[in-house]
Amino acid sequence: MTADPSAPRNRPARHGEPLPRELLDPAERLTRERLRDLQLERLRSSLRHAYDNVERYRRKFDEAGVRPEDCRSLEDLSRFPFTTKGDLRDTYPFGMFAVPMSEVRRVHASSGTTGRPTVVGYTENDLSVWADLVARSLRAAGGRPGHKVHVSYGYGLFTGGLGAHYGAERAGCTVVPASGGMTARQVRIIQDFRPEIIMVTPSYMLTLLDEFERQGVDPRTTSLRVGIFGAEPWTEEMRREIEERAGLHAVDMYGLSEVMGPGVAQECVETKDGLHVWEDHFLPEVVDPVTGEVLPDGAEGELVFTSLTKEALPVVRYRTRDLTRLLPGTARPAFRRIEKITGRCDDMIILRGVNVFPTQIEEIVLRVPGLAPHLQVQLTRRGRMDHMTVLVEARQDAGAERREEAARAVAQGVKDGVGVTVEVRIVDPETLERSVGKLKRVEDLRDG
Ligand code: DLL
Repeated sequence: MTADPSAPRNRPARHGEPLPRELLDPAERLTRERLRDLQLERLRSSLRHAYDNVERYRRKFDEAGVRPEDCRSLEDLSRFPFTTKGDLRDTYPFGMFAVPMSEVRRVHASSGTTGRPTVVGYTENDLSVWADLVARSLRAAGGRPGHKVHVSYGYGLFTGGLGAHYGAERAGCTVVPASGGMTARQVRIIQDFRPEIIMVTPSYMLTLLDEFERQGVDPRTTSLRVGIFGAEPWTEEMRREIEERAGLHAVDMYGLSEVMGPGVAQECVETKDGLHVWEDHFLPEVVDPVTGEVLPDGAEGELVFTSLTKEALPVVRYRTRDLTRLLPGTARPAFRRIEKITGRCDDMIILRGVNVFPTQIEEIVLRVPGLAPHLQVQLTRRGRMDHMTVLVEARQDAGAERREEAARAVAQGVKDGVGVTVEVRIVDPETLERSVGKLKRVEDLRDG
């Protein structure tokens, strides 16, 4: 979208307009070389902190035959063992904390759907760093002091709501702590309070947009100028859909509880070209998800993070399961970017031997006229064969003929683009489940 010239003076940066230098954090002005020096210094002390204070790290390092002092360059990190969700589960709830409980000011828990959740903790300093990084992310997205920020990420054990909240306050913004749900009321509040910025999952943004339209309000006429979307995968096609319908800049925000929460990496509004990883606090690697071998920048694989400053829960080579590539910095030259996350290793569906990600289906569906951006993927078994059904909602104005055409176009698109045959069913508007937070796209009905 193009920026609105009549927007107020403290409007978000236009697409193409960089953040004024005086609003950059000192770390954002470092050269790559200086940043790497800082990373090494912090990495060495973080490895030492983990080894000295967390029994599990000590055991794992000892088993791998490495000591914190063996890390003499950033490349030496690859000699250290990985950490997984399993490590956090085994030590549930607080076994990997590296400070006494009296130093822990807050805990959150990740959205684990099965088994024990993973619990994460923060010292006062961790909470302060987190707020700083979310504030930095907000500025990168076009937020400025004095803006009102409507936070629709869920508040509670999920890191989204409170993480966004304290970051927006730190950035000098006014926070509207809406949380998720009560959609009709949220739409009312957005019209009355006139926020410039909304922070929400992309799937719940769609729910809000539908509600605006249901109430007879054109969402393009609201005060919103920037949407900061994250916590689940979304595509460039979804960015276009949301920007057009809502008349705002849609930018991507990434993070995970184990590493901190939202604000680990952020897309800049002026470039919208992937997310800069705040590398002064988190060191990223991309590894082969099967062998664990470190891959060169530019190659696609699993994202791995080592925290550089965390006190309560340092993480060493944490396997995120998220798939992406590391690219050189652009709007923040010293910080590498991650490409929009294609999906998680765990979301990958193997259908008759072909790897399929729900984001690939989303991309195809959103290119077909007559279809709404609401879809669900169902997996069933027919005889010995796995079968995939893609359910997509028709747009209000799509008649029977349009729907048939659209179903054919999606099936063909999936066959050509992904290489699998799927059944496509176009369903009536407003019949598929709506998101109030993170959306579950895939329903696996195969037994066993
Ligand atoms: O989702 C933190 C967060 C909140 C990030 C709000 C951004 C905004 P968890 O609940 O621990 O934390 O889930 C982390 O969500 O490993 C990814 O699989 C996925 N995820 C988060 N951000 C993105 C994104 C929060 N921008 C998991 N694109 C991660 C794709 C994302 N996936």
